[in-house]
This record gives sequence, C-alpha cells and structure tokens, in this order.
Amino acid sequence: MIPGKRRAAVMSFSVAIVGALLLQSVSSQNAGFVKSPLSETKLTGDTFELYCDVVGNPTPEIQWWYSEINRADSFRQLWDGARKRRVTISTAYGLNAVSVLGVSRLTLDDAGTYECRASNDPRRNDLHQNPATTWIRAQATIMVLQKPSISSSEHTTLPVEGDSYTLQCNLTSAHSVHQESYWMKNGEEIPETRTPNRNTEYRLNKPRGDDAGVYMCVYTFEMSPPANATIEVKCAPEITGHKRSENKNEGQNALLYCKSVGFPHPVWTWRKFENGIFREIDNSTGRFFISSRDNYTELHIANLDIGLDPGEYQCNATNMIGSREEKSVLRVRSHLAPLWPLLGVLAEIIILVIIIVVYEKRKKPDDLQDDDDPAGPVKTNSTNNHKDKNLRQRNTN
Ligand SMILES: *[C@@H]1O[C@H](CO)[C@@H](O)[C@H](O)[C@H]1NC(C)=O
Ligand SMILES: *[C@@H]1O[C@H](CO)[C@@H](O)[C@H](O)[C@H]1NC(C)=O
Ligand SMILES: *[C@@H]1O[C@H](CO)[C@@H](O)[C@H](O)[C@H]1NC(C)=O
Ligand SMILES: *[C@@H]1O[C@H](CO)[C@@H](O)[C@H](O)[C@H]1NC(C)=O
Ligand SMILES: *[C@@H]1O[C@H](CO)[C@@H](O)[C@H](O)[C@H]1NC(C)=O
Repeated sequence: MIPGKRRAAVMSFSVAIVGALLLQSVSSQNAGFVKSPLSETKLTGDTFELYCDVVGNPTPEIQWWYSEINRADSFRQLWDGARKRRVTISTAYGLNAVSVLGVSRLTLDDAGTYECRASNDPRRNDLHQNPATTWIRAQATIMVLQKPSISSSEHTTLPVEGDSYTLQCNLTSAHSVHQESYWMKNGEEIPETRTPNRNTEYRLNKPRGDDAGVYMCVYTFEMSPPANATIEVKCAPEITGHKRSENKNEGQNALLYCKSVGFPHPVWTWRKFENGIFREIDNSTGRFFISSRDNYTELHIANLDIGLDPGEYQCNATNMIGSREEKSVLRVRSHLAPLWPLLGVLAEIIILVIIIVVYEKRKKPDDLQDDDDPAGPVKTNSTNNHKDKNLRQRNTN
C-alpha cells in the first residue's frame, strides 16, 4: 500500500508527464501520410492523377519523384511543366499538405514508379543527413498499355437514306484478352447490347430526331481499362413540346417554354411578333428572363403589362444542321377582370334602386294631392281597397 500523500504525488507527477507529452505532440508532429498514391494501369493517350495528403506540424513539404520500372536507383525529381508540359503538380499547404500529380497524353515511356516524398524535418535539405531518415515516401506503380484500336462507323447526319442506319465497331487490335462490348448513348448504357464479339453493331430503325446523340461502343478487358470509340449522330432540332398559350392577369408572371430533340443541343432564342414580323424582345423594362439548358428553354415575363406584353412569342432552336421554331400566344387580362361578375351584380342593384326611386318620385305627387282633397280619406280607402284586392289576387296566383 502506498500512503495517501505519496500516491497523490505519484499521480500528479504522471499527469505532468502526460501533459508534457501532449503539449509536445501539439507543438510538433512528424510527417505522416493521410492518403498515399494508388497504382493504376492506363492506356496510351489517357491521363492519370495521383494524390498525396500529408499531416504534420509544421506543415510538411511534398515532392514528387519518378523512376523507370525496376530501376529504383534512378529516381529523379519531377516538376510542374516537365515532359513537354504533360506533367502538372499542384500542391496546397494548409493544416495538411495536399498535392496532386497529373500526367496527360500518356506514352509507353511514362510507365514507372511515382513517389510522393514528404518531410517537415528542419534538417531535410541538409546534405550531411541521410534523406532516408528525414523524408517519408509512398509509391505507386503506373503501367501504360498500348490503346486497343477500334475501327468504327463515321459520324452521320439524319435523315439517312433507307429505313435504318447501323452503327458498327470492330476491335482490330488489343494488348490483352477482351471480355465483352456494349453500346452507350449520351453517356448511358443501352440495355441488352452486351456481346462477347469483337465486331458489334447497333441498329437505328427509322431514325428520327430523338435518335440523334453521341453513341459510344465500349470494350472491356480482363487485365486493363476499357477502351471506346465515339460515333456522333447529328440531326436538326425538332421542337417536341411547347406552351401553346398562356392566359394571365396583368401584374402576374407568365412562363413560356419549348423543348427539343436533336443533336448537337440547339442555341435558343425568343422573339416577339411586332409590326408584322418576329423581332428580338425589347427588354428595356427588364422584365424578360430567358433560361436555356441543352434541350429546354424558358421565357419568364415578370409583372405583366396589359399594354405591352400580350401577343405572339416564338422560340427558335438552331444548331449546325438546321433550325426550328414554335409559337406561343400570351393573353393578358385586366386587373378588373375577376371583378366583372361582381360589377355586374352591382350594376343590377344600382338599376333596381334607380327604378324604385323613379317609381316613388312619380307616385308622390298623387299622395300629396290626396291629402289636400277633403274627400280624400274615402277615395284613399277605395284605392287602398283596390290595392288590397290586387295584392290578394296576386297572392292567390
Ligand atoms: C467491321 O467488320 C465487318 C466484317 O469484317 C465489315 O463488314 C465492316 O465494314 C467493319 N466495319 C467497320 C466500321 O470497320
Ligand atoms: C472512353 O475513352 C476515354 C479515353 O480513353 C476515357 O477517358 C473515357 O472515360 C471512356 N469512357 C467510357 C464510358 O468508358
Ligand atoms: C433533354 O436532355 C436531358 C439530358 O441531356 C434528357 O434527360 C432529356 O430526356 C432530354 N429531353 C428531351 C425532350 O429530349
Ligand atoms: C432583361 O433585363 C433584366 C434586368 O436588366 C436582366 O436581368 C435579364 O437577363 C434581361 N433578359 C434578357 C432576355 O435579356
Ligand atoms: C432562328 O434563328 C436562326 C439563328 O439566329 C435564324 O437563322 C433563323 O432565321 C431563325 N428562324 C426564324 C423563323 O426566325
């Protein structure tokens, strides 16, 4: 048993040591990899990127080195712009040091070992120090294979002669065993096109505007990255949907749109029918907003003006092959339009009131005369009786 006093002393001593260690680790920390570059196999003409993320205090310095495969003794440092500007190095120093090495338009000679070196040792550039002890290293091996060659159909423009058009790809040479091929359109795989053959076809039956786009045949390989060839099928735009008419009240907002098929995606313009022709929209009031994205365009008119805005608008889709347009009619009703029924009722009430007043005015002189006449009461009674009879008769009807 340790007596209480001594135990307290031992404890405070160990707390002090732990504290000191913590303090030291906060104030300085050797470089360590958070993310190190990964080995890859690439095809000639492609690009690769390697990432290196290093933590340490102070922030470590990062360098990239290269050696040919199996020549570990021959490392040379890489710099931004090396190999005729095909090498890029971008490094950011913050809490961590993060660096990306990129090599583009790969050739077979780019294959080799790429090394990320990092150090925050103050003696790291001292020539009397062994770099092996002051720098940490992480390596990745990049293999570069000759790109397979694919012979593919020419780009085409619709419409084509005949009922159908067949896209073809033939794999003519490959460095490794090929697995299968499939077709893609606009970046998405076309279902049920996978085949193990070296020659593959995709048939467009009665091709129309929505068959236009970027087609790609993709070959996959057992030991290397996929290879592909692109075939463009171009077509003038066709407007497949638009708002025929828009009915709004003044002060409200209007929205007209058009959408299209066809490739390449069109350039969109909007025009308004003025003085006999469609002209560019006059936006001097700043209330017209156009937003167009690929195969869709929207014309937004804010705070409608009944004097300026009603009329015919036209969207125009134009690409290198041709041009199409559609019309939309904008009607703008007055603010008061929703009040018309109410105003109608009001008008009826006013007319009724006028009729009653006029009737009363015409009756009054008789009444006055009656009062002046000494024989009045009798006469009045008789007329009253007469009136009562009329009333009774009406009630029985
Ligand atoms: C693909 O190969 C077939 C059969 O040899 C040939 O008829 C066709 O013309 C080739 N297509 C292309 C695009 O090279
Ligand atoms: C097609 O090939 C290019 C160049 O090799 C490549 O960058 C791209 O990722 C490939 N696309 C597909 C879908 O395989
Ligand atoms: C418009 O293009 C998008 C993507 O580019 C596509 O998803 C959409 O189906 C196309 N719409 C029409 C009408 O072609
Ligand atoms: C119209 O003017 C507004 C305000 O200046 C601007 O934000 C808008 O982009 C213009 N619209 C067009 C079609 O030029
Ligand atoms: C549509 O726009 C294109 C390009 O600005 C133009 O050449 C063509 O005449 C326009 N079509 C109509 C009907 O205005």
